[in-house]
Amino acid sequence: MFNWSKDYSVGIDEIDRQHKNFIKLINEIADLIGKENRIQIIEIKVKELEDYAKWHFQTEMLYMKKCKQCSGNQIVENHVKEHNEILEKIADFRKDIGNFDADFVTELMVFIKKWFIHHTLGADKKLYDFLKKQNFEEIIIKDKKP
Ligand SMILES: [Fe+2]
Ligand SMILES: [Fe+2]
Repeated sequence: MFNWSKDYSVGIDEIDRQHKNFIKLINEIADLIGKENRIQIIEIKVKELEDYAKWHFQTEMLYMKKCKQCSGNQIVENHVKEHNEILEKIADFRKDIGNFDADFVTELMVFIKKWFIHHTLGADKKLYDFLKKQNFEEIIIKDKKP
């Protein structure tokens, strides 16, 4: 079981909530390990992962677009690069589903978990620390929770 820890917090509720959902998805993939999975189940999970990643990255892009100092900034450019790389990698996994074997789900889970930890503790934290020093009040999407 992969658990959320406050070390992953970037200090913005909306983003933390999305990261928690990402962890939930990783755990759901982990739950498929060692089971006799039908290809359709794996297809659905990989698609869900891909859609969620795209949606989450769009949210982060929104923050970057609203930030005045972000255009051409190295922190931002590297960040977007990491997002694009993971989307390509997930797309590769999706293309490989046709020849999936017993290790497919394990490989996917290990890969995505490693990436999540690396990216959230690295690029995400760096980005939000940077944003907090910019026009943050205009950037922040206010938490919709009451
Ligand atoms: Fe990110
Ligand atoms: Fe993120």
